Amino acid sequence: MWSARAREWADLQEGAFRPLYEAAFDAAEVGKGTKLLDAGCGAGLALRIATNRGAETSGIDAAQNLVAIARERTPDARIDVGEIEELPFGDGIFDVVTGFNSFQYAADRVHGLAEAKRVTKPGGLVVAAVWGAPEKCQMGAYIGALGKLMPPPPPGAPGPWALSEPGALEALIEQAGLRAIRSRNVAVVFPFADDRTAVRGLLAAGPAERAARNSGEEKTAASIAEAIAPYRKPDGSYALVNDFRFVVASA
Ligand SMILES: C[S@@+](CC[C@H](N)C(=O)[O-])C[C@H]1O[C@@H](n2cnc3c(N)ncnc32)[C@H](O)[C@@H]1O
Repeated sequence: MWSARAREWADLQEGAFRPLYEAAFDAAEVGKGTKLLDAGCGAGLALRIATNRGAETSGIDAAQNLVAIARERTPDARIDVGEIEELPFGDGIFDVVTGFNSFQYAADRVHGLAEAKRVTKPGGLVVAAVWGAPEKCQMGAYIGALGKLMPPPPPGAPGPWALSEPGALEALIEQAGLRAIRSRNVAVVFPFADDRTAVRGLLAAGPAERAARNSGEEKTAASIAEAIAPYRKPDGSYALVNDFRFVVASA
């Protein structure tokens, strides 16, 4: 699903996450010589930033079109198409493993985090970032609208905000054998010049593609436009403010 509109994701959504990446890399002291894996690296902006800091970077993502963009941006990094749950790396290789809004998509989240721990050096760090509290996310209505357009989830499947509840991410981290040591919230602002750009950008996420395949692109686009309309500025642009949270854990 994340491959379908990879270029739009890279051009219209991904850049907004820059403050989150920078804050997480500061918290994990990513710098010259840090061996870093970004699990669920998407189009690779975080990898590019870590590489610019002097880190030796690797990435993995299930979406081959996003990986293609990540490889263009950082040709020297090893970037695989593959699953977070089966990392193609030996034990104890990385100083830092990051997952920016990716571990929550793993079919087995604890197993995904346990894989991150396995490939991290003892005493190294795993950083997991997820959406913050829904009431602090202006894209909450958009996420809710997509939920209504997707096929019904299997009974008991965790909802999109499952890891935003206080302590929920820490609990998964501890179940994976990691030790949560600190957390931070970061405001991420998604700017869109107009309605058309906003809808194109917001259609680029995997869940939106899933909704479009299930309910039709036109209906999905109309639902997205309706969900964000309350935040349209007088000049027709948007700056959607959302809270994200990351936890730094020791392996
Ligand atoms: C919200 S996007 C985040 C991408 C990137 N980390 C960023 O900050 O732009 C979620 C990413 O997780 C990837 N993903 C989802 N499930 C995955 C899995 N089981 N294994 C590897 N990648 C996965 C998707 O392909 C997508 O690129």
